[in-house]
Amino acid sequence: MKVSLLDTNEPISVEQLKDINVLYFPMDMNDYKPALESLCQERGYKNRDEVKLNKDTPNIEDKLKIFFEEHLHDDEEIRFILDGSGIFDVRNKDDKWYRINVEKGDLIIVPANMYHRFTLDDNRFIHAMRLFTDAPKWVPVNRY
Ligand SMILES: [Fe+2]
Repeated sequence: MKVSLLDTNEPISVEQLKDINVLYFPMDMNDYKPALESLCQERGYKNRDEVKLNKDTPNIEDKLKIFFEEHLHDDEEIRFILDGSGIFDVRNKDDKWYRINVEKGDLIIVPANMYHRFTLDDNRFIHAMRLFTDAPKWVPVNRY
């Protein structure tokens, strides 16, 4: 994971992310199940699914357009990157973007009600596990 202030490229630390309640868990991809299960137990993540996005995904450009609209949810957004890479932008306390470049082995938790957006990076491929406290849903509230 690499994080920077989008406007200036200034590097942002894991601690600075934590200050805005974005949590980062580096996962051991040779044996992630025990750590994943204990995280799910601790935080009450009862459901999960997996999504893959690449250049051959049907309507990929339309999907990315929706994901890149600034939005929030009333639940946490938990993403565990199983393969590939991508970009999450989250708003900091000054309403500036922190750009979070995620890659295989990164698990991030964006808190409820934080404006954010997602897109692919130049690799154009991500395989991510989505974790949910309830049934899988994805209800964005766009920012106007
Ligand atoms: Fe989202």
